[in-house]
Amino acid sequence: MTTFRSIEWRDNSLRLLDQRKLPAETVYLELRDPQMVAEAIRAMVVRGAPAIGTAAAYGLALAALHSVAQRTTDMVREVEQAAELLRASRPTAVNLFWAIQRVMDKVYASLSLRPDALREVILREAHAIAEEDVRANKQIGLNAQPLIPNPAKILHHCNTGSLATVDYGTALGIIRIAHESGKQVHAYLDETRPRLQGAKLSAWELNQLGIPHTVIVDGASGLVMRKIGIDLCVVGADRIAANGDTANKIGTYNLAIVAKAHGVPFYVAAPTSTIDMSICSGDDIPIEERGAEEITHVGSERVVPQGSPVLNYAFDVTPADLITAIITEKGIAYPPFTESLARLMNTDQ
Ligand code: MRU
Repeated sequence: MTTFRSIEWRDNSLRLLDQRKLPAETVYLELRDPQMVAEAIRAMVVRGAPAIGTAAAYGLALAALHSVAQRTTDMVREVEQAAELLRASRPTAVNLFWAIQRVMDKVYASLSLRPDALREVILREAHAIAEEDVRANKQIGLNAQPLIPNPAKILHHCNTGSLATVDYGTALGIIRIAHESGKQVHAYLDETRPRLQGAKLSAWELNQLGIPHTVIVDGASGLVMRKIGIDLCVVGADRIAANGDTANKIGTYNLAIVAKAHGVPFYVAAPTSTIDMSICSGDDIPIEERGAEEITHVGSERVVPQGSPVLNYAFDVTPADLITAIITEKGIAYPPFTESLARLMNTDQ
């Protein structure tokens, strides 16, 4: 059982588990306005594509809740400003833009309502996004099971569990369901430099769930495949283009190449809210660059000499031809992805 919620609406505020502090401390922050939510997303208090989308939706609910506007048009203007702010917080995960747009569509469909009723509509939509995410994750986990042998050694990158979503997780959710259904699974967790989401967050989650796992450095994946034998890799996604090219945490592309070289299946797990059909290929996915200190420092210690430049791409794009299948809540897409993803996106759940 997951004993924590990374993201929760409580007493008219957004309660976030501060992921920067894990695994050492379990600290919750109470956010009361959209500015605080945008900053929490930027600073990675909350991270992971579905989690930041949901947090942004609640950020819009906070904008409406604290608005003193007497007229609906004035409240809408304030919510629009909050949407602008939240959109600017991180560029790569499409779930952020998807969730904001979904709430804004509801807003524009509710212009005849009084401000109080509009507040309710926005909050209800944010709750719906949160609840649907949990359902989608569980379904992804179930859909994936025919692909998971027993026993299975599974290599995973970054963090895609309950922390990165509203609950359960995508790629880690698959590992969790396999474990809960009695399969002998062992997860090999890439530590995921530079922010160590694998070492700090995925290991923390699997520890709590009692799922056997081993943390490895990112560069060890080739040797681990050769020496220990890996049955499959499964990773999450921040944005999947219409042709299947997939943006995910930096290092995913390298892992996919290593998997290909060793004949190891490479799966991407994501809700359909991560699929961006407006983007034809991964070349058009905006890649976030983060601050140099994430690389130059380990904790408070400087590990790169002063004067040595660094380049901190936070994400990379794995070309579709390195991906064995994309696992969603609506089913599994196989190559050629241009056709299979289009079919899947037109399927009702
Ligand atoms: O920079 P982060 O930690 O937000 O990056 C997260 C990832 O890359 C995850 O793999 C992705 O968002 C999927 S989470 C279900």
